[in-house]
Amino acid sequence: MSALEVAYGLPPGAAADISRLAADCTGADGVDPLNEAARLGLATGTGTHLLARWDGRVVGYATSDGGVAQLLVAPAYRRQGIGTALLRTLTGDTPGLDLWAFGGLEPAAGFAQKYGYAPVRELRQMAATVPAWQATLAGRPIESFPAYTPAALDALLTCNARAFATHPEQGAMTAADVQQRLASPGFDPAGLFLAWADGKVAGFHWTKWEPPVGEVYVLGVDPAAAGRGLGRRLLDAGLAYLAAQGATTVRLWVEADNFPATTLYATSGFSVVGRDLRYRELGRIAPGGQPADQRRSEEDQ
Ligand SMILES: CC(C)(COP(=O)(O)OP(=O)(O)OC[C@H]1O[C@@H](n2cnc3c(N)ncnc32)[C@H](O)[C@@H]1OP(=O)(O)O)[C@@H](O)C(=O)NCCC(=O)NCCS
Repeated sequence: MSALEVAYGLPPGAAADISRLAADCTGADGVDPLNEAARLGLATGTGTHLLARWDGRVVGYATSDGGVAQLLVAPAYRRQGIGTALLRTLTGDTPGLDLWAFGGLEPAAGFAQKYGYAPVRELRQMAATVPAWQATLAGRPIESFPAYTPAALDALLTCNARAFATHPEQGAMTAADVQQRLASPGFDPAGLFLAWADGKVAGFHWTKWEPPVGEVYVLGVDPAAAGRGLGRRLLDAGLAYLAAQGATTVRLWVEADNFPATTLYATSGFSVVGRDLRYRELGRIAPGGQPADQRRSEEDQ
């Protein structure tokens, strides 16, 4: 008789079990198997939650929201079909789910390949030490920009929607998203810098500070103001702020095919330290590599 049970829902205590499971995976794999959106879903109960228990003990978890799933299996319980059971249950009930695989790990690649999934999107993680960034300044002055106040919310959202018009998640950021994040650990309105022009936000740099690591959370410039160095000036201003807070390293995630952004970061002392892949079932990828459908995920880095 199989000791494996797979069931939907988040019974009392499950969120803590899942956090422990994710911490075990992070320890073994060197990368967190859940992203910010999944952590928010776990905290608020939104999205789909599927638990795998072995003799009552939580050994696997899968969650999905907005057309994309994340799944993880305890390091000591891998290669026994638990990942397969989670995937089969989830995609059996919700066909067409994509999968996130953080860190570009071998087991995830093997798993995805076995079940006929191929990467359709790559997020690159980049990092810079503060001295490496400072070395690229070469005497360039650092400008100061006003910080966010609630009165700037609409102007910020307008700029964000224009700057990320083609970005699946960031372009859809709402007032509630901004407020929820500003109330979360690591965020401070004093670390969200706005460049104003003619009463509008032309660009912004939203930083995150989780000691000792700083993050370029979102950097966006309105297309009408792009190509004139505003992105670099905002980047420098936010990095100077993070350095003043005590950051020694700053990280960020960027779409691998966003050439202007990856170039800006590469010339500001950042280098690639990891990659996250979004996989899709081969039959659902349209010719030319374009997604066969346009689903939005909640993830944003
Ligand atoms: C990926 C992961 C969920 C697989 O869970 P699992 O329970 O070990 O997977 P299964 O036992 O069901 O394996 C199914 C198949 O996946 C492939 N696979 C699994 N682990 C693999 C590995 N280390 N190397 C190569 N292929 C692997 C194999 O084809 C395997 O079939 P086989 O054992 O008959 O050869 C697990 O390794 C994990 O939690 N990794 C960290 C989180 C992560 O990367 N999630 C993203 C998933 S896309």
